This record gives sequence, structure tokens and C-alpha cells, in this order.
Amino acid sequence: MTNQTIQTKSDAEKPALHIEGGYRLSGELTTNGAKNSALALMAATLLTTDECRLTNVPQLTDIRTMGAILEAIGVRYRQVEAHTVDIDARFLGTQRAPYELVNTLRASFFILGPILARHGIARIPLPGGCAIGARPVDLHVRGLVAMGADVTIEHGMVEARARKLVGARICLDFPSVGATETIMMAATLAEGETILENAAQEPEVVDLANFCSAMGAQIKGAGTKTIIIQGVKKLHGCEYRVIPDRVEIATFLAAAAITRSTLLIGPVLPEHLSAPLAKLKEMGMTITLVRPDTLEISPGSGLNATDIETLPFPGFPTDMQAPFMSVLSVAEGTSIISETVFENRLMHVPELNRLGADIRVRSGHAIVRGVPRLSGAPVVATDLRAAAALIIAGLAAQGTTTITGLHHLDRGYEAIEQKLQNLGARIQRLAPGSSFIAAPAVDCFSPSAGVAAGA
Ligand code: UD1
Repeated sequence: MTNQTIQTKSDAEKPALHIEGGYRLSGELTTNGAKNSALALMAATLLTTDECRLTNVPQLTDIRTMGAILEAIGVRYRQVEAHTVDIDARFLGTQRAPYELVNTLRASFFILGPILARHGIARIPLPGGCAIGARPVDLHVRGLVAMGADVTIEHGMVEARARKLVGARICLDFPSVGATETIMMAATLAEGETILENAAQEPEVVDLANFCSAMGAQIKGAGTKTIIIQGVKKLHGCEYRVIPDRVEIATFLAAAAITRSTLLIGPVLPEHLSAPLAKLKEMGMTITLVRPDTLEISPGSGLNATDIETLPFPGFPTDMQAPFMSVLSVAEGTSIISETVFENRLMHVPELNRLGADIRVRSGHAIVRGVPRLSGAPVVATDLRAAAALIIAGLAAQGTTTITGLHHLDRGYEAIEQKLQNLGARIQRLAPGSSFIAAPAVDCFSPSAGVAAGA
């Protein structure tokens, strides 16, 4: 067997993931807590002057950035264990959150509602985040204005003032997750009742409502289209465990599907995964709940094409669109993937095509013609879930795939390469300048290769 050394100029300049594709996965994956939930909960700790303890918080750059933002506004933020943080917002100040941090994290905007509710004034730079769309904040702002706030946006800074917030009836034009969370948090300390209609029903919204309730808030209806919040004078500290990350789980389900592997994945809350599980079954995968919180996914005789339309929960989540596109790129037949939530969330298409996929984009729809196999190539991750999609494609591609743009990946996946390695994947992160020793390309999925799991 001859080894191949991959060393290109771009490897020398950027950290990269190298994947030697064609190996089946096997074993059991332990999933982390939900990034999007943890970020909202971190913001909600500002609603109380007591200390809160959050457990099952994933170790991610987004979480560290949010922690740094909290510290910059006077909050005591301590990581006490690998996945446990204590947050004490007693000395929450009115200083501005630093632009350099807020600019990298859309979720930083979540602190607006709680700071306004506590201090009657909040100033936050307009947020950044993945470049998947324009991502305005008008729905957040309109909700706060309906509760009596004056909001101005000037020179890239949002300033909200309210002598007191008063409950209101608010109907969102679109069930925005972030706007639902901002309004819900502000309403917990407003005077009177807030009725939020056309609210987002995502599990992370329910998790935030449960956390606020554990702090003493009065919230009904989270998880339905109408949330009713009765404002209270004060909230108190508590300890709370973040829900499992349904997007991480779906990413590993997609990895199992594309590599024709059997995997156990837990802990999961299956009710958070109805849409992706239905799609995987349509593709021909078998899904079994082997324990109340553990799924087994295993391959059927083939991988079928299926159409996907991203929608607010309980529809198919936009965050899972890119990883599922990778799987469908090698399915039998043509799939149509319609991205309806974000207008610029198909940036992974040209990169998947570099790996040999046959995908064309027409007005927000991706037409995915399944190909028999992908082939490894250097590719660049353009956003968080695009990075996951490229890893999944790389696991099945013949030869070596090199992925750069890993700062996107590290925002949302804790130790993904170690987790995949433990399941038998040939994946390695290399620092700038190091080289990857790859075995010669093989087609481990062909019946003649007599695939052994992880072989
Ligand atoms: C959250 C998630 C993100 C996920 C998205 C949709 C976090 C940290 N991020 O993002 O991973 O992809 O939900 O499930 O939880 N919109 C407006 N005006 C607003 C707010 C949103 O027009 O004021 C639009 C957005 O541009 C987008 C759509 O609403 O087209 C959905 O956005 P939203 O649900 O708010 O997503 P985020 O909360 O930003």
C-alpha cells in the first residue's frame, strides 16, 4: 500500500480538515446540548440579579463569544465544568456590548430584551452571524415598541428605552425564532399580559420558556403559535439543563445515511426530529427508538431521492438543509430542495459540485440529481451548516476531501472530528503547515469491497 502525502499551498496557510472518504461508521454517539438554546438561555440569565447555573452547555466558539459579551457588560461568567457555566448578572451594567464580538454572533442581539427589561435602556450594535441572508431585526424591534419602548437604529447601533415595559398583543409577520425569544424575555418583566401570536414553535423557544418559568416567569403556550406571558416583578436564579442539539443529531443521522452505516445516537428528544426522521425514512433508512432517548439509524437496500422544503418548526429545519443536501446528492433520482427561510442559504452548492455532485439552483430551489459517487477535492466552508454538509459529503467521497473555513464549523459543532473518528471515520484536523497521510482511494461502499464497519 502506497501512502499519498497531501500538501498544498492552502494547507500551509489555514487549518484544514482532511477526510478520507469511503468508510462506514459504527458505534454510539453522545450528543451535546443545543447551541441555539444555550445562547438564548445565557441571555435570559440577565433577567435576574441571582446567579444561574446552566448545564449541558456545549463548548463552542459561539458560546465563548456570548460569554465574553456578558463579561463585557459587567456579568460574572464562570465555566465551572466542561459543560456547566455559572452566570451572575447582579452587576449588569449599561455599557455597550463590544462591536467586535457582537459582529460575529447573531444571537448576541438576544441580550437587548433582558437589558431593556432590567435597566429601561439598552444599546446593542446590530448583530452579525452567518452570511445566510439579510437577517433584519425589525420583528424584534416592533415587538419591543408594542410594549412601550422607543427604539432608534443609528450608526449601526440599536438603542431601546422604556421607563417601563407594558404587556401588549403582538402578532409576528413571520414566526421568527429570535423575535419570539426577544419578546418573550422582555415580557417576563413587563407590566401585565403579553399575547404573542404567530410565535415560533421551535424546541429552543420552549426550552427558553421552561428556563424562564424555572426562574419564576409566568408563561403559557410555548411550543404553540400563541404564547401568553404574565409579567412578574422579579425573577430568581435556578439551575437548568439545556436540551439536546437536534441539529447536531440530524448532522450525524445524515452522516450515517450517506455512509450506509448503522449508528446509535443519544440523548435525543425524538419529538424534536419528526421532519428529518420522516425524510430519512422516505430515503430508505430505518430508524428505531431503541431506548426512550436513543435512536438507531440503519441503511435499507438503497438511498432514494426526496423533496425537501425548509419551514419553521415543525416543518423541516433550515439548519438541516445543507447536510441533507449532501446525502441527496448521492441518492437515486432527482430531489428538489426549496429553501424558504433564508434567502442566501445555498452557498454550499458550488462546493458540493466541486465534490462531483450534480446540483443546479433555480430561484431558491436546488435541483439535486443523484450521482453514483462523489470524489474528494479541496473545498471551502462558507457558513456553519455548509461546513457540516461538506464533512458529510467528504465521508462518502472517493479519495481525500480537504475542508477549510473551519471557524464556521467551530461555532456550532463540539469536537466533531473526534466524534467521527470514534465512529470509525478517517478524519483529521491539521494545523497550518502539517501534512495528511492518506491511504489510496478505495470504494468501501461497493459490495465487492466486502465492507466491514469502519474498515
Ligand atoms: C434562529 C437560529 C438559526 C436558525 C433560525 C431559523 C439561533 C441563534 N439561530 O435564527 O440557527 O436557522 O432560527 O430556524 O437561534 N426575520 C425578519 N425580521 C426579524 C427577524 C427575522 O425578517 O426581525 C426573518 C429572517 O431574515 C429569516 C426568517 O425571519 O428570513 C427566520 O429568521 P429567525 O427565525 O429570526 O432566525 P434567527 O432567530 O436569526
